[in-house]
Amino acid sequence: MSLSESMRRVLPYIRGMLIGSTGRPVRLVPVVDPPGVPFEIDLSEMGEITEERVLHLLSTVAEEWRDERSGSRFLLVRLREEERCFRVEGRGGGPGRGEPGSPYEGLSTKGREDVVRGRVAVVTGGAQGFGEQIVRGLCASGAYVCIADLNAEGAERLADEINAEAGEPVAWAVQVNVADEGSVEGLFARIVEEAGGLDLCVSNAGVLRAGSVLSQSSEDFRFVTEVNYVAFFLVTKHAARIMRAQHLLAPRWYTDIVQINSKSGLAGSNKNGAYAGSKFGGIGLVQSFALELVEYHIKVNAICPGNFFDGPLWSDPEKGLFVQYLRAGKVPGARTVDDVRRYYESKIPMGRGCTGPDVMRALYYIVEQEYETGQALPVAGGQVMLH
Ligand SMILES: NC(=O)c1ccc[n+]([C@@H]2O[C@H](COP(=O)([O-])OP(=O)(O)OC[C@H]3O[C@@H](n4cnc5c(N)ncnc54)[C@H](O)[C@@H]3O)[C@@H](O)[C@H]2O)c1
Repeated sequence: MSLSESMRRVLPYIRGMLIGSTGRPVRLVPVVDPPGVPFEIDLSEMGEITEERVLHLLSTVAEEWRDERSGSRFLLVRLREEERCFRVEGRGGGPGRGEPGSPYEGLSTKGREDVVRGRVAVVTGGAQGFGEQIVRGLCASGAYVCIADLNAEGAERLADEINAEAGEPVAWAVQVNVADEGSVEGLFARIVEEAGGLDLCVSNAGVLRAGSVLSQSSEDFRFVTEVNYVAFFLVTKHAARIMRAQHLLAPRWYTDIVQINSKSGLAGSNKNGAYAGSKFGGIGLVQSFALELVEYHIKVNAICPGNFFDGPLWSDPEKGLFVQYLRAGKVPGARTVDDVRRYYESKIPMGRGCTGPDVMRALYYIVEQEYETGQALPVAGGQVMLH
């Protein structure tokens, strides 16, 4: 059921109003024929929709909503050219900082499992690899997750599997090319249609084309730069517009943009300059966007994982890096894939590759922490250390 552009424009403000009045994340799900009388938000007299007018009208509505909210699970939104009904849905999430008002508020670990519960999240490149791990982790922790990937079939398959396990719709798939602005704009329009807004954007889609600076084609160099670097700008631009609109009516609510960067964003990578350069650049964007968006309580951080040896990039039996390096004789004396793997593991002080749960711990920390932004958090078993 697609919504008009005007409806899509006002929904994040309305979602912000609901979060602002309850302190909890919600999802606005379009419905036909709600049971009972819905709570009405009448914006039909507004004429031209401007941010100033929407904010003015909704701040009056917020008080009525607060008074009536116990009885209302349905909203009717009236615009001049359209009216739609929405079910207000949550998975019970809260800010996750212990009992409000108790002397231990924010100090105890109680409620920490609620860090992402009920939040609306998107994970780009979510169909496989680290992205898939992040999608699974977020869904298992109570978030609603949009799996945004170029590989539509893989994203659909994953969403179906997760929803069947959960017994309720907690994930949905959208095809996107993060390097194309029109496609990215379409992705965020779909997220607003599905959920009314957004709390967590994980910019994970990334590509690697290794090559010597003496011979790599400029096409390969540009391809890596477009997907790893330019796309992070595009994704942040369109995610942050929604988050900013929510913030204007939920001034205490924090939202997050997290880039899955790499240890190669912190230290150079031999014959892999396109990749390392794009990841170093990503950290410059993270710091700059963080400075600008802090005003709207949007935190922007990067996670810099070490090698995910169990993921398809390394372990795919046909085109994974272990097989490629074995065939190319890159590791002297290696006769099997396991020899190559052991060689790379031995370079890591903690003796193993990075895993999905390692990345999830960093992600939960970033979302929970309300006093840090613009950081690049290594999750690399000691292989890179910050100065
Ligand atoms: N695998 C590792 O060892 C490792 C280590 C450090 C950091 N990283 C980073 O983690 C992220 C994920 O890496 P991975 O190894 O899990 O990747 P992967 O290749 O296993 O999966 C990447 C996913 O992104 C999707 N994708 C690619 N281009 C896209 C585009 N233009 N638009 C939308 N989706 C697109 C793919 O379809 C795929 O599902 C990347 O940013 C990567 O740089 C990976």
